[in-house]
Amino acid sequence: MATELLQVEDVSKRFRVRGRTLHAVEKVSFKLSPGKTLGLVGESGSGKSTLGRLALRLLGVDEGRVLFQGRDITQLSNKQLRPLRKDMQMIFQDPQASLNARMTVGRAIEEGLIIHGIGSKSDRKERVYRVLERVGLPFEASYAYPHELSGGQLQRVGIARALAVGPKLVVCDEPVSALDVSIQIQVINLLQELQQELGLAYIFIAHNLAVVEYLSDEIAVLYLGNVVEQAPAEELFKKPSHPYTQTLMKSVLKIPEPGSEEQSLSHIQGEIPSPFSPPSGCSFHPRCPFAEDICKRKKPEPHMVGTGHLVACHLAN
Ligand SMILES: Nc1ncnc2c1ncn2[C@@H]1O[C@H](COP(=O)(O)OP(=O)(O)OP(=O)(O)O)[C@@H](O)[C@H]1O
Ligand SMILES: [Mg+2]
Repeated sequence: MATELLQVEDVSKRFRVRGRTLHAVEKVSFKLSPGKTLGLVGESGSGKSTLGRLALRLLGVDEGRVLFQGRDITQLSNKQLRPLRKDMQMIFQDPQASLNARMTVGRAIEEGLIIHGIGSKSDRKERVYRVLERVGLPFEASYAYPHELSGGQLQRVGIARALAVGPKLVVCDEPVSALDVSIQIQVINLLQELQQELGLAYIFIAHNLAVVEYLSDEIAVLYLGNVVEQAPAEELFKKPSHPYTQTLMKSVLKIPEPGSEEQSLSHIQGEIPSPFSPPSGCSFHPRCPFAEDICKRKKPEPHMVGTGHLVACHLAN
């Protein structure tokens, strides 16, 4: 059996907010092999970013385990995690916000190299030029400040910064949601090329299934912190079995403009329930067109409905 790069086992995360407990991620499990992509989809607040951060151990895990290259990293301190940070990187939705406005692009990329003790000063400069070129930017971009670049160029810088240190796993947290549609496709293509070239594993987060479809080998659909369906990408598109996934599929035909209705999934009936007091039984039941009595009473356990295809729905088979 090939060694998994990442194993997330029954991981849960709760936040205390003004004396109340918010269940952000509930008993989520998945495995990720080198060179593969897991897509995470779900509405705003479903726990995608929290799960991505737990997988990288940027956040402490309340329950469950995270293994990286077979090593249990659940309880490691920040200091113990530091040498692993170059293997596990993150690309954010808003590259402007993740870059220091007073730092040149080259310096921002070099910073990671310095932190991890990679290369001499001249090696680093060379490496910054090379990685900029690889993401489709001229080496002169090294001397630019963030405000001098477009959104698409800034996202390329975000990618360059993550890749400069030579990671094995990259969490891409909605890396294209803020970009124009034509630029989204360019950036997705770039991520795909880089994956093939460098054997990277991705956790690719998006609101919209159309975006994850391009890249994902496997997809997990999150709803209020729970994985409601998880399957190989092709299988999920052939046989979406959870009513929530089926609703997401309706917005699959096109990549939405940033901020458009499709992105907020406002066409799904009903409001997203409060994560402080999730509904009884299946947390999707108040919005589900097929809900029956049992859905209100009993939480559905994930069960297999096809090869590697898990669904947490009483009515799916
Ligand atoms: N540091 C925090 N403190 C308190 N609550 C948090 C914190 N981070 C996330 N949450 C809550 O946890 C839940 C999951 O949030 P998360 O950011 O993971 O969702 P998401 O799926 O990434 O949403 P979006 O699509 O809007 O980015 C939300 O209810 C959110 O308000
Ligand atoms: Mg998020």
